[in-house]
Amino acid sequence: MSEIKYSWQGDTSRLDQKLQEHSHSDCYPFHMPGHKRRTIDFSDLYSLDITEIEGFDNLHHSQGILKEAQQRAANLYGADETFYLVNGSTAGILSAVSAALPRLGTLLMSRNSHKSAYHAACLRGLETVYLLPAASEFGISGSVSPAHVAQALEDLPQIAAVFITSPTYDGVTSDIRTIAEIVHAYNLPLIVDEAHGAHFAFSEEFPEPALSCGADLVIHSLHKTLPSFTQTALLHVNSERIDRDALKHFLSVYQTSSPSYLLMMSMDQCVRFMEEKGPSLMEEYVLQLKLFYQQAKSLKHVKIFDKTSVSEDICFDQDISKILISVGNSDMTGQKLYHKLLNTYHLQMEMCAGHYTTALTSIMDTPEGFQRLFRALKETDERISVSSGNSGTGSKVIYGSKRPGRSRLLTSNDIYQNPKPQMPIALAMEQPSERLSLKASTGHISQEFVYLYPPGIPLIAPGEILTGKIIRIVDLCQKQGLSVEGLSDQSNQSIKVVKL
Ligand SMILES: Cc1ncc(COP(=O)(O)O)c(C=O)c1O
Repeated sequence: MSEIKYSWQGDTSRLDQKLQEHSHSDCYPFHMPGHKRRTIDFSDLYSLDITEIEGFDNLHHSQGILKEAQQRAANLYGADETFYLVNGSTAGILSAVSAALPRLGTLLMSRNSHKSAYHAACLRGLETVYLLPAASEFGISGSVSPAHVAQALEDLPQIAAVFITSPTYDGVTSDIRTIAEIVHAYNLPLIVDEAHGAHFAFSEEFPEPALSCGADLVIHSLHKTLPSFTQTALLHVNSERIDRDALKHFLSVYQTSSPSYLLMMSMDQCVRFMEEKGPSLMEEYVLQLKLFYQQAKSLKHVKIFDKTSVSEDICFDQDISKILISVGNSDMTGQKLYHKLLNTYHLQMEMCAGHYTTALTSIMDTPEGFQRLFRALKETDERISVSSGNSGTGSKVIYGSKRPGRSRLLTSNDIYQNPKPQMPIALAMEQPSERLSLKASTGHISQEFVYLYPPGIPLIAPGEILTGKIIRIVDLCQKQGLSVEGLSDQSNQSIKVVKL
């Protein structure tokens, strides 16, 4: 990257100029996409942007170069068949859920699933039964318990498929091997949203990939952790429990009929790059990561999430490429740390939550990038003032407790409550509706989603009872500056509910 100083003051309304300015700044990307703006230098992208002309195949009916490219991806990941996705993992999740169980069927899904899984349930009129993940350090969601999967399948014979998010946005994985065995004992398909784990297959230092653990359908966002353009993703099929014709049908429903050749070229390049250079670059990258985690142990107040400090039930395994940075016993919140890293050190983090901020790293990060992050954290660590109140881990926080002088930070355990579904998502959305102020909506059935973004996991889904507690949580999330989205009233003052 060039040495031109980073500034957002340029105040240009032109998107191209703003992107150019950003790309020439000294701002280091600890965020998606995984290519870290370093991979390909095309002088003229327009000259490569075509449609399905002679010799260039058709993604929705591939027989030539796109068929070969998808086969190459399948070989790389060890899948039976792999499909290119040009609309992100979102399109893969919509298609996988739609093909894995019949319309109006029952889906067992982890509650901390991305909104696309909820949207699939809505589009197909599915009944949803939720698996609540364990609560972990830093207030993040932990693993889904295989015992809970077994219990739900035993109790509810109508369940027709299981959907698990592993890893989470925070890098926590679940025991997919054991869950797959349990699900397959009922001859049901297991879908794993491994959107954040497309790199797992390339080093044993990362959690075991869901495909090797027996998952039937696996979704990977190439763009999140590997060198590939934003929106590029893969859907892998690994079993006969899935109707491939139905899957292809839904892919053609949810994906554009004009897939971008630039995106498809980027996926092909990514796959070839990982085939050729993946193993050696991964080795260097893992060494960098380990060095960073080792150095970070010297910090007194700044804490990096490490699965060894929690039990396997809470965090089955951890993706160390996602560096979760907390400011432990200090007066600093995740948001303050995020802004300090950006404004003082020009390090753009992926996201922040109440207790931590996340640096997403990839094979394309440089040793200089890691050192810039470490130096910034070291300086921050030296200047931090220790507070007597905030534990930073969330583990000692009890909902509703008050500390004098500062508001208590919410943990994912506080935020993601056990939902009380009264009717399927789609049915609720189709009912006559009325709009109520959030405060007046207690006891009503929601017709809208309420998400925190990121990570896009619903606090409330349509069809669920709006309890006083969940309304208070939405209010607290807003007061703490978290990005609450999903309501049609963008001022987040009112909500549409089922008219009684
Ligand atoms: C867990 C999870 N799954 C799926 C998605 C959707 O991925 P994409 O942006 O590639 O559509 C996201 C997006 O952030 C996500 O966090």
